[in-house]
Amino acid sequence: MAGKITSVELIRKKERGEKIVVVTCYDYPSAILMEEAGIDVIFVGDSVGSNVLGYESTLSVTLDDILHHCKAVRRGVKNAMFLADMPYMSYQVSIEEAVRNAGRLVKEAGVEAVKLEGGEEIAPTIKRIVQAGIPVMGHIGLMPQHLLAHGGFKMTGKTDADRLRLIAAAEAIQDAGAFSITLELVDHDTAEAVSRSIHIPTIGIGSGPRCDGQVQVYHDLVGYYGGDPFRHASQYTKLADSVSVALKRYA
Ligand code: KIV
Repeated sequence: MAGKITSVELIRKKERGEKIVVVTCYDYPSAILMEEAGIDVIFVGDSVGSNVLGYESTLSVTLDDILHHCKAVRRGVKNAMFLADMPYMSYQVSIEEAVRNAGRLVKEAGVEAVKLEGGEEIAPTIKRIVQAGIPVMGHIGLMPQHLLAHGGFKMTGKTDADRLRLIAAAEAIQDAGAFSITLELVDHDTAEAVSRSIHIPTIGIGSGPRCDGQVQVYHDLVGYYGGDPFRHASQYTKLADSVSVALKRYA
């Protein structure tokens, strides 16, 4: 059996050209299945808001929501790295508050790394959290916590200027001490350029196959909804159909 996955091991995977597999997780039984499947990083994303809690967007997710789900998932995680999102407004107000809240995720829920959205502007915050001994993953490209400012979800990195902006952001996040960066809905050529410009691994979602790893939302992956999957989602089964059949048979 493989040993514990750490931030150092994820950087080594990039050096060896091995792809990194990340999946969102919101509960204990799913965490056990993910461990059995050999997932590298089990991740309590703030997408718990829309996928489990019925919120309209990630903006409503609180630190207490994330802590609650992390405590459940923690009990199922063994060898995978256990990553959690810092939710909206848990790290934007001040660096002190960001460090304190990242510390709560570690102390109260056994989280092993945290993810924050933002480019250069968030680098000082990342630096302080890393100095407190907590590994940090960055997140650039489409940033769902910036929904109000950006006015919707669209592909990023399509122009030369935007490509350079994303490379500069990735370098600043790396220099601040992050061990990895999520690239969400980034033009595929730009995602490759960003991946080549830094030594820490990039984890793509809707950003093409040339990132160093991929993250998928669990509910998309297993088809837990009846509707059509997002264009960037990889659906490997349609759980919603069999659950619905089972419930109707029972009823
Ligand atoms: O919360 C989440 O699911 C995420 C992924 C989209 C990367 O942050």
